[in-house]
Amino acid sequence: MRAMHSGYMHWAKFKPSTRYALTGSEVPHFRMDSLPFGIADLDLDGASHPRYLPLRERIARRYGVSAEQVVAADGTSMANILAMAALVSPGDEVLIERPAYALLLEAASFLGASIRRFERKPEDAFRLDPEQVASAMTDRTRLIVVTNLHNPSSALASEDALRSIGALAASAGARVLVDEVYLDSAVPAQRSAVHLGPEFVCTNSLTKVYGLSGLRCGWALAAPDVAERMWRLNDLFGVNQAHAAERLACIAFDHIDEVVGDNPELLARNRALWNAFVDSRGDLDCMRAESGITAFPRWSGGDTERLDALLHERYDTSVVPGRWFEVPDRFRVGFGLATADLEEALSRLGSALDEFE
Ligand SMILES: Cc1ncc(COP(=O)(O)O)c(C=O)c1O
Repeated sequence: MRAMHSGYMHWAKFKPSTRYALTGSEVPHFRMDSLPFGIADLDLDGASHPRYLPLRERIARRYGVSAEQVVAADGTSMANILAMAALVSPGDEVLIERPAYALLLEAASFLGASIRRFERKPEDAFRLDPEQVASAMTDRTRLIVVTNLHNPSSALASEDALRSIGALAASAGARVLVDEVYLDSAVPAQRSAVHLGPEFVCTNSLTKVYGLSGLRCGWALAAPDVAERMWRLNDLFGVNQAHAAERLACIAFDHIDEVVGDNPELLARNRALWNAFVDSRGDLDCMRAESGITAFPRWSGGDTERLDALLHERYDTSVVPGRWFEVPDRFRVGFGLATADLEEALSRLGSALDEFE
């Protein structure tokens, strides 16, 4: 059965909110009105601008590609489904990592793809392993889908692993979609996989690492022929981007250092807090957080829906139960919140975990 909706996205949008939400996976929101611009800079004359070049040029400059390789889209979400729709026909085989961000599975299902999986093993720190990809590939594989950083674990894939997967894809006439929405929070920094060859299509946005989810400024970086197919497809969907949002995104790129601010320091501090919290608990098993905004610990207590229910009920705190990633005894935490809030959230999480002992 084709997916006609996203169960995960509906849950993520409408779940009961809590004061200490470890469910988020982005840095604190950035206030655009802290930047020096006026309303006239938004070009509010009512016109729309097909393939608005000034924004594509800014994205191209930051990621070291040409503007013809940049396709703008409403968030990484739209970029992902445009990329899949450009590369996959109904019945084509799509190979997707497990655990996976649910939307990637749901989008492929909606497009009528035949989905196969390859494992990112917890005992191997959720490493992206080309051998796992190779053993799951068939001669019908048209697209391989990975996240880098991995959502939920934040594992950083090596360029060597990505290159090997690119070679596997190239030899089968397939492509590789790399969702890079967390990549700009990698430690050490890593360039986009689009630089590894024409079989790569990479998606990203100003949402997670930049705190600008409201702009819905996303994009795909791809070989020019794939980019052209995506633009043509978008004529069926969004046609053009909202121009005021395009202008705001240009302003954000022009002040990107201010937008980034001290988020790298915040994330480093929060990862250290998280690692210390895990070290203090016998009931959690988690690879060390070194990159990214999320972690995916295993809980010895079993189904983490129970943990999340207690967190809601007694602690005004929440996590993402692992069932959304097909691993019910794990849960995802995000540590993109203010450090004082994270400290309080972890203290509450600790108290809830203690109740199950
Ligand atoms: C792997 C991944 N891709 C894409 C998105 C959505 O990003 P955007 O807000 O840019 O659409 C998310 C959000 O959770 C995500 O985790």
